[in-house]
This record gives sequence, C-alpha cells and structure tokens, in this order.
Amino acid sequence: MEREKLIQEIAKHNWMHTIDLGQGVVTPGRWPVNQNVIKAYDKIDFKGKKVLDLGACNGLWSFEAERRGATEVHSVDYLTHVGYWCSPAYRLAHEALGSRASYHPDLNVYDVEQLGVNDFDVVVFSGIYYHLKHPLLALSKLRRVMKEGAHVVIEGPIYPDMARSYSSFHYRDLLFGDKSNWCVPTLRCLRDWVECSYFEVEQEYFNRPDAFSQLNRLKVALRSCLGMPPGEILRTVMLARAVVRQDPLYAGVDPDLVECSR
Ligand SMILES: C[S@@+](CC[C@H](N)C(=O)[O-])C[C@H]1O[C@@H](n2cnc3c(N)ncnc32)[C@H](O)[C@@H]1O
Repeated sequence: MEREKLIQEIAKHNWMHTIDLGQGVVTPGRWPVNQNVIKAYDKIDFKGKKVLDLGACNGLWSFEAERRGATEVHSVDYLTHVGYWCSPAYRLAHEALGSRASYHPDLNVYDVEQLGVNDFDVVVFSGIYYHLKHPLLALSKLRRVMKEGAHVVIEGPIYPDMARSYSSFHYRDLLFGDKSNWCVPTLRCLRDWVECSYFEVEQEYFNRPDAFSQLNRLKVALRSCLGMPPGEILRTVMLARAVVRQDPLYAGVDPDLVECSR
C-alpha cells in the first residue's frame, strides 16, 4: 500500500497498539509497546515456530512474532461480546505488513482446541487473565494445545505479595473502573496458577523493578500483619515453559491435564 494512502487509512481506525508498519509509518497506539514483553520475546527463538496470540487486539504481538521468524501465527480474539472496534485496525496492519497470520476474532480462549492445532511452540497470553472469570481453566486449555517445552508469555496485573497466595475478585468492586476485569492475583498466586497448570516459570519482569526491594517487602509484610491489602498493583510479564511431570503438590491428577502428568 502506498505510504500516503496508508496514513489516510490509519487515521480512520482506533489504535491500541503501536505498530511499525514500515515506510516510516507507526500506528498511533494508546498503549506504548510493553518493553517487558519485548524482553520475554528476546529469550524465545521464533524461527520456524507455531505461535498462538490470545486477545490479539490490533495484532502487535502476532506481527512481532512473525517479524522474528515465526512461520505459523494464529491471532485469536473474542470480540463477539465487546464489539469489533479493534478488528479493522488489525486487518489494516495485517495487509500493510503482508502478514500471513490467520485471524480468528470470534474464538473464546476456552475454545482454542477448535483451531485444531495442538503443538504450539509459543503462546502469548498478554493482557488477558484478569479479564477472565476462569483464568485457571484458560491456562489448562492453553497447556493442552502446547508442546512439551513450549513457551508461554503471560502479562497482567499482580499484587506484589510473594508470601501469600490469593486473588482479589472484582464483581461489585470495579477494578480500574472497567467492567471487563475480574481478578488480580498476588505474585505468588499467579506463580501457583501457572505451575499447577504444568508450566515452569523461567523469568519474571516487572514494570517497577524496585517493587521487590527489601523496603517494599517489609511494607507489604506490615500491611499483611495489619490485615490490609498489599497496596499498589504492578504489572508482570512471566515467561514459562510447558512441562510434563508429576505434581508433588496435588493429591491426584488434574483430569483436564492427565497427559501432562506422566
Ligand atoms: C487488554 S487487551 C490485551 C491486548 C493484547 N493481548 C496486548 O497484550 O496488548 C485484552 C484482549 O483480550 C481479549 N479477550 C478478552 N476476553 C477474552 C476471551 N475470553 N478469549 C479471548 N480473548 C479475550 C479482548 O478482546 C482484548 O483483545
């Protein structure tokens, strides 16, 4: 597409993602590119890989995976319930980049098995778990379509509490004033969710690297003693790998993930 035409088309759409479309044209996304997701991407070798991008929105993480050499990318979103406002922007970026990613704007994360692919090398689960009423169910659905050793990139809000495992639940009490949010786990709880779903956490990145300083840990511990919530909400990016192993912390075998527990 010609540069001038592309600029005109971009102006017609609503952009959340900041995407470099080439020819010196960058989409005016409301969200800056999350550098912690970039750090996680830098740890993954995308060449020749099969990638699943959940909640693709305008497609940034799908196109970035493709740019890094992924050969099969599935961009999944579930827009039936929120309207399709981010879809035309996805399609424009897809065209401008000459992307070969396949787009599924009506597929709920709980139904990813319908893609018919069960050997993904990389799953990007960025900005979603807190929008789900059943984040653990989603993690097990994702684990079921991944190869052993595959990577998952998980991004979202956490409470900076490493001592206690619990999640807040937002039904009457809105989170960030947004009715599409359900929960915020503590860091320990998110790790527990991820590990009991047959993943091993390899790396964690935080939007405020000083949040786990000695002083801040003391503050969180003090708030806990006083029965107060752990304070501010941070964002984390977790990079984890799909594993097959027995679970020494669970009495039986998770019926959803029997094949991961050998
Ligand atoms: C905060 S945006 C995150 C966009 C993008 N993944 C990122 O990290 O920049 C949340 C996305 O999750 C999608 N979403 C919400 N619930 C979903 C579900 N049940 N299944 C699939 N996608 C869902 C929304 O449609 C939206 O595109």
